[in-house]
Amino acid sequence: YRHDRARAEELLELATGIAEEAGQMLLAKRPARPEVLATKSSPTDVVTALDRAAEELIRARIAEARPHDAVLGEEGGDTPGEGGVRWVVDPIDGTVNFLYGLPDWAVSIGVEVDGEIVAGVVHNVPRGELFTASKGGGAWLRGERLRCNTGVPLAKALVATGFGYAAGRRRVQAEVLAQVVPQVRDIRRGGSCAVDLCSVAAGRVDAYYERGANYWDHAAAGLIAAEAGARIAGLNGRPVSPEMVLCAAPGLFEELHDLLVPLDPERD
Ligand code: IPD
Ligand code: CA
Ligand code: CA
Ligand code: CA
Repeated sequence: YRHDRARAEELLELATGIAEEAGQMLLAKRPARPEVLATKSSPTDVVTALDRAAEELIRARIAEARPHDAVLGEEGGDTPGEGGVRWVVDPIDGTVNFLYGLPDWAVSIGVEVDGEIVAGVVHNVPRGELFTASKGGGAWLRGERLRCNTGVPLAKALVATGFGYAAGRRRVQAEVLAQVVPQVRDIRRGGSCAVDLCSVAAGRVDAYYERGANYWDHAAAGLIAAEAGARIAGLNGRPVSPEMVLCAAPGLFEELHDLLVPLDPERD
């Protein structure tokens, strides 16, 4: 157990250094108006040269320090490795914010050991905020331990959400949202799943849900939220998946869950 904790801390330290360096590179190189290189699953789903450059930098640093590890990255795909450690990388989470110069985008790096995330860092670059967590070691921002909000009823909950980009989902997402809005305090669509989950961890919102997020969006930040006391799961006892990422303190989690289940479309 001690050995596992030490290993998680060591991986977190490496991940944090890499996320800081990638963030600095992105800040230095971000042009006033970044260009869209390509769109992927839909017109919202854009990629810029710096998404790719940041992932290349992150992969190079991982390979220097730990050449046998596997890496899964949004832009570079799945690179197999040996030894049970896999890095899960989103070089820019919130590329649309990055494109427009809005302040919430982040470098997200999670590290799995034998299929389980044990360390995670989310570097919100424009805000200069580095969120970190290791399994069993708590979630941290600027030397302060994070705790999610507790005891908030659904009617008073500020709920962050996102609209996963895959084509054909938008109408359903809007229909679900129309049912949620009257039941909660208000909604935020921040534009970065990783930042949204860190906001749950820091008590800046009470909950987050999204249909259509990918593993690299929430891998690191999911641990940060969990270590801050939040519950993170899918619907009906299932784990998080592109189907649903739902995150809130216990209590609010169940209330939001019960609101979302009957709205679950299975038809996009
Ligand atoms: C996206 C952001 C967005 C979420 C999408 C993600 P990207 O990631 O996290 O908030 O709604 O589902 O794909 O493409 O900017 O890395
Ligand atoms: Ca993307
Ligand atoms: Ca992402
Ligand atoms: Ca991305």
